[in-house]
Amino acid sequence: MFGDLHLSLNKGVSMKSEGDVVTLERDGHRISIAAAGHELAAAVKELSAGGVTLARLSGDPVRLPMLMRRLARGGWLRYSIMDGAVVATPVARPETEWPALDPEARYVLSRFAYLHRDGDTLLLRSPLSYLEVALADPRAIALVARLAAPRPYDELVETDLDAQVMRLLRHTRLVCEPDGEDDEDGDPAIRQWEFHDLLFHTSTREGRHDRPTGGTYRFRGEIDPLPAVRPAIGELVALPAPRAERPQASLFEVLDRRRSIRRHGERPLTKEELGEFLHRSARLSGAFTAGEEEVGRRPYPGGGGLHELEIYVVAGKCADLPAGLYHYRAREHALGRVSEMTAPAEALLRDAAFSTASPDSPQVLIVIAARFQRLSWKYQRIAYSLILKHVGCLIQTMYLVATALELAPCAIGGGNSELFTRALGESYFTETSVGEFALGTRPDREAEE
Ligand SMILES: Cc1cc2nc3c(=O)[nH]c(=O)nc-3n(C[C@H](O)[C@H](O)[C@H](O)COP(=O)(O)O)c2cc1C
Repeated sequence: MFGDLHLSLNKGVSMKSEGDVVTLERDGHRISIAAAGHELAAAVKELSAGGVTLARLSGDPVRLPMLMRRLARGGWLRYSIMDGAVVATPVARPETEWPALDPEARYVLSRFAYLHRDGDTLLLRSPLSYLEVALADPRAIALVARLAAPRPYDELVETDLDAQVMRLLRHTRLVCEPDGEDDEDGDPAIRQWEFHDLLFHTSTREGRHDRPTGGTYRFRGEIDPLPAVRPAIGELVALPAPRAERPQASLFEVLDRRRSIRRHGERPLTKEELGEFLHRSARLSGAFTAGEEEVGRRPYPGGGGLHELEIYVVAGKCADLPAGLYHYRAREHALGRVSEMTAPAEALLRDAAFSTASPDSPQVLIVIAARFQRLSWKYQRIAYSLILKHVGCLIQTMYLVATALELAPCAIGGGNSELFTRALGESYFTETSVGEFALGTRPDREAEE
């Protein structure tokens, strides 16, 4: 039986009552319950006044359960058991009915479930679930531990409380039935999602969580925002301004010609070519103050004009530029020499050769790093997803510029941020790599693919 389930109005729901009509409101959404019999209105009022157990709700045996289902589906209710020791709160509009538990079946924790401390609450959550469950009782946590491997219902449920917690976890899709219809990995779509990808997707898009999202400026007044570019690092190496007289290919022609070229020529890239590539893809052509933030203009777009991406050059084989790690000073259009070719920098070049299945290291590896706090100072929940979008914008810009300059470009899908952190000597959590791009001169005969 599930009569002990305690129902109350979800957080943030307010109730107004006029005559027989009770209206619930949350975040601009509204539901009105015209209670033909007063008992429906009375039931909603009970939900609002601290809540009520299912068993104690009295009313029309058909209309009352219908109303409860309607409220549950709309995310108007939260559920608790064990005197509030376990609370399930909808974080989005639920779409499922309460699934039944079969005492003959086996159950297991969803592979998407995770325990997470939020303030002083231990939350069990899942990107598959529309509800999050706060666990404040060790007995409930012990049941979660037993659910680590598929087990028959009888083995899992030893007490009445276990039965209640199981019902709640089942309803929230935190528990699935590995041999039944609800076998997560029996669904080819769900099977191909990895835990971290689905969590990232549902957390950074709206619709499946109720957390503040977007430009909330949550650190305003507590932490200073970062400037438009990182502080200069290393000894300055001047770069020539790009040549003005270069023959102009049309944008459409460049788009048509663009392709990934993984092998490089015998002739090393020159400092002039590297300088023009960096200038046309990523220079900071202007910066101004908007509110408390310094925003900037670059050839590629960036959310809020914040431009958190920094560019580093691992120069392996570059004429008139000693091998080593350099930082691109986007405001001055110059390089800062961070170090000579260290072991971690060399390993980055080798990794790039491996990723492009090339026998030789690229002449130059462009490492795109992000100053994470430049975005997370302003944006909540979406900061990292914005960074990845910006990497895409920059990579396409680099492809087009390299193509127009008759160079050999190739994006690289994976990279070692730990190695880069070691090469740069900064904190992994402050600034590290989020994208890589190989660059060099074109091979004499294009030996591609
Ligand atoms: C984000 C991204 C990651 C990529 N990663 C790699 C990679 O790791 N190794 C590689 O050889 N090519 C990589 N590429 C290049 C693609 O393989 C290439 O774009 C695709 O085969 C289409 O060929 P095209 O660029 O010549 O049109 C990547 C491209 C992008 C946009």
